[in-house]
Amino acid sequence: MRLLSRKATCNTHGQDSSYFLGWQEYEKNPYDEIKNPTGIIQMGLAENQLSFDLLESWLANNPDAAGFKKAGQSIFRELALFQDYHGLPEFKKALVEFMAEIRGNKVSFNQNKIVLTAGATSANETLMFCLAEPGEAFLLPTPYYPGFDRDLKWRTGVEIVPIQCTSSNGFQITAPALEEAFQEAQKRNLRVKGVLVTNPSNPLGTTMTRNELNLLLSFVTEKGIHLISDEIYSGTVFSSPGFVSILEVLKDRKCENSQVWNRVHIVYSLSKDLGLPGFRVGAIYSNDDMVVSAATKMSSFGLVSSQTQYLLSALLSDKKFTRNYISENQKRLKQRQKLLVKGFEKAGISCLASNAGLFCWVNMKHLLSSNTFTEEMELWKKIVHEVKLNISPGSSCHCTEPGWFRVCFANISEETLNLAIQRLKSFVESMNNQSHHQTLKSSRRKSLPKWVFRLSFDHDHREPEER
Ligand SMILES: Cc1ncc(COP(=O)(O)O)c(C=O)c1O
Repeated sequence: MRLLSRKATCNTHGQDSSYFLGWQEYEKNPYDEIKNPTGIIQMGLAENQLSFDLLESWLANNPDAAGFKKAGQSIFRELALFQDYHGLPEFKKALVEFMAEIRGNKVSFNQNKIVLTAGATSANETLMFCLAEPGEAFLLPTPYYPGFDRDLKWRTGVEIVPIQCTSSNGFQITAPALEEAFQEAQKRNLRVKGVLVTNPSNPLGTTMTRNELNLLLSFVTEKGIHLISDEIYSGTVFSSPGFVSILEVLKDRKCENSQVWNRVHIVYSLSKDLGLPGFRVGAIYSNDDMVVSAATKMSSFGLVSSQTQYLLSALLSDKKFTRNYISENQKRLKQRQKLLVKGFEKAGISCLASNAGLFCWVNMKHLLSSNTFTEEMELWKKIVHEVKLNISPGSSCHCTEPGWFRVCFANISEETLNLAIQRLKSFVESMNNQSHHQTLKSSRRKSLPKWVFRLSFDHDHREPEER
């Protein structure tokens, strides 16, 4: 008799992906400037630690918010007892206004259409439960965030079918790729319930073009399916072209009275833009009342604590603060991304041109000894164990081309980033020296008459100059 349920023991959780294994390796030997200067540097974690000082100075200037007080009076008891799964109205209002601010107020949000969840993780899973049956499918463009295998599939039984994107056009979504994914799902007898995209993309660090968004909207309209846009990185866009939310495209195409209006859903969270993944604040925004009502009931399994809602409603309602925070944070991200791109360039490594996110999508194809995922894993192991950098291999993001890696730049200090660049540069130089040495060896071998080489091998398996 099995003691645990099938759900508890099935491995669609993805815990054994190199994305999570890299974190485990880091935990065994974490870099610390003083205590462990030769340890592994964590560059596999999409955390934003660049603007904590701004949040901390706001907290110091607003002690009531974190101290359970309103106008100097304690509201501890009120907060301790509050458990309404609709959430605090003042927090929902502040959150939707913050979301509109990030989108340059080109779109507005109705606070009655938002559902609070414990992070985007919970928001994405809740949407799967609301929109699909076990065994039905969502189409996702590759490469995608490795956590989606856990968040979308594990407990819901929903399947992911990849939309294959390639480097030939900077990994953009195309009409044939969408159609192929749809056909592939049908071949596998999976009913397609929708498309899920991340805009800006994790792991690419790019925003979607209007062209792609229009294509997506036309596709889901024609097929009569849902579109989920995970916009968790919407506040991290630091260069042009700016961010365009799918809601803006819906509005521009005057879809208000069409059926697709109710089939587009947004996921958001404060984990990246405010750098607060520990606070577990996420949201679903939908124009469909039935989705909002079902998701609200389901949110009982992953509520945001009232204490957190209270604190953040005060912070997000301070418009002067949020406006300054958004622009200052973007400036800092831009400077970091530039540092990484330039540093890697000096090591002969190029990054996909990016304008958003907390990471770069890095091309190390030329460091593979053959164009295979086995070689990608070999290179990754060397980078983790010898170079002592934890980065995420493209295969963990379901990339179809070997040799791409996601490298995070906002969770470490500038000094640590410089050290990481230096380590990688030395590694590439040593690889180049090795291959130069090997080329020399093989060219010398070529210059010897064939019979000499054959003879020497017959007698001794070492190459001539090594004897
Ligand atoms: C695209 C995407 N969606 C969702 C999540 C989960 O975020 P949260 O911490 O809000 O659960 C992440 C986290 O890395 C992400 O990159």
